[in-house]
Amino acid sequence: MNKRKLLTSLVAGLLLAGIFFLLGRPEKYDVLVVGAGAAGLFAALEAEAEGASVLVIEKMPTIGGNTIRATGGMNAAESEVQEKLGISDSLESHLEDTLQAGHRTNNPVLAEILVEQAKEAVSRLRALGADLEDVGYLAGHSAPRTHRPTGGAPVGTEIVRVLEEALKERGIPIRLETRITGLIRKGDGVKGALVRDKTGREYRILSSALVLATGGYGGSPRTFVRYNPALAGFNTTNHPGATGDYIPLAEDIGARMVDMDQIQAHPTVEPDHGILITEALRGNGGILVDLMGRRFTDELAFRDILSARILERRNGTAYLVFDDRVRRSLSAAENYIQRNLVKSADTPEELAGKLGIDPPLFSGELENYNRIHHSGLDDPYGRSGLSIPLDTPPYYGIKVSPGVHYCMGGLAIDDHTRVLRDSDGKAIPGLYAAGEATGGIHGNNRLGGNSLADAVIFGRIAGREAARK
Ligand code: FUM
Repeated sequence: MNKRKLLTSLVAGLLLAGIFFLLGRPEKYDVLVVGAGAAGLFAALEAEAEGASVLVIEKMPTIGGNTIRATGGMNAAESEVQEKLGISDSLESHLEDTLQAGHRTNNPVLAEILVEQAKEAVSRLRALGADLEDVGYLAGHSAPRTHRPTGGAPVGTEIVRVLEEALKERGIPIRLETRITGLIRKGDGVKGALVRDKTGREYRILSSALVLATGGYGGSPRTFVRYNPALAGFNTTNHPGATGDYIPLAEDIGARMVDMDQIQAHPTVEPDHGILITEALRGNGGILVDLMGRRFTDELAFRDILSARILERRNGTAYLVFDDRVRRSLSAAENYIQRNLVKSADTPEELAGKLGIDPPLFSGELENYNRIHHSGLDDPYGRSGLSIPLDTPPYYGIKVSPGVHYCMGGLAIDDHTRVLRDSDGKAIPGLYAAGEATGGIHGNNRLGGNSLADAVIFGRIAGREAARK
């Protein structure tokens, strides 16, 4: 080494030592989990069950991430609940639906893991006390396989509730308002993180393994537009903390990211408030009409297809219409009513008047729809899920248009959830990832209900693998 190089490394070493001195003595854990949505919380639980000491950090003041906003449910085929309800389904058909939705651009190994482990994930959640006793349809499924609480209540709060209790019971700490600001390296791997608390204090946490479960970037218009400029001006269903915090870390350490431009627009988002109107409302019988009052599509087509069809209509907007029977089948609908997102009326004509659509056209359309479905004829748009007459007053309508919902892209992982290096595709020692921070599982279009299965299943794998490192 020449003198100049020697001097440079000496100065760098001294600087680093100075920084570490200022940062104080590091804390030490076996596993550090970054992010407290379903993936992070499950990673923590599993790691602790393997005997590891675990810390979860979460930058927001509350836990739950996007999980807490999840409504429609969590998919699993051949589950014990399906069996109890007499629903016939198969792993093969869940896999086929997942691959078809993703136009076969999915990472097939990860998609298979998702499908194979989903029923066990449902059992695990039920064993923790989660109510997943209602099983319904979401779009693009060939069987009812989306598990949610009794009466069709939102699923996310239920999952976060049982996970929070489980972590508390096991004494696993969650440090809120604490964000990751950098990775601590060891050789070509990771041995912890630099973090900052809400007072701005920075400190080090050393860990044998680190799990990135930071979620996606659907809550940051600047970031999703950077990866997909066509989404400029779109609303988002994401929580404000979903800002892709793993991206600068991945860039810094040279981790591979895949499918970053693949961002899903959910077809039915209430446009004035950016509130997701769950697919389960259509799955339980709701239909879509355009601003004239005409039906125009199979309401249960894959999300990318349906979003494109709505965007082709006037103002890129439609109305989601349902009746009281559908309302009573899905208690998640009460939330929309309480939030004043829903117009209601005793007759189709009156509802059309309130929605500002053509009353005779709309009531004729509904009459026709009911006649077809009463007489068991084929739906003119080839509706691919439950079709029931909408004839039980009152009638309801919600304005909807597509909004950013889910990032299919993210960190490339292997079947052990190890994060891969971009240069050679090898695993980066000590670095794991799970949930929406990862990419590839869903290809270029995710099947509704697969994101919770993804978070739970890969969160569990990440926790186990990180603990065994
Ligand atoms: O429409 C929904 O309830 C969304 C479900 C999902 O994105 O998986």
